[in-house]
Amino acid sequence: MTLIQVTDRDGTRHSLDAPDGDSLMVALRNGGLSVEGLCGGNMACGTCHIHVLNAMEGQLPLVSADEAALLADLPDTMPQSRLACQIPVGPALTGLSIVVAPDD
Ligand code: FES
Repeated sequence: MTLIQVTDRDGTRHSLDAPDGDSLMVALRNGGLSVEGLCGGNMACGTCHIHVLNAMEGQLPLVSADEAALLADLPDTMPQSRLACQIPVGPALTGLSIVVAPDD
């Protein structure tokens, strides 16, 4: 399990104990934190859009060309935007702090 700090769409902060091996999208969805993950992690929906609050250089997987293309089409995309379905939960995420992006 890896502890991740999450701010939901209502601005409420949560400490999420995420199961290692899940994608971050699945952990957020199972934790009831407003992430739909409608495409099941196939980079087709954008409903797992998050903003990473703290620098996690070298800790997060690099953004692929497909992820970047989908993020570019989403509203509220920021330089720190990611798709949670593309981030595997594991010890490398310890200390990660994220905000669930607005649902537009
Ligand atoms: S779950 Fe659909 S893009 Fe991440």
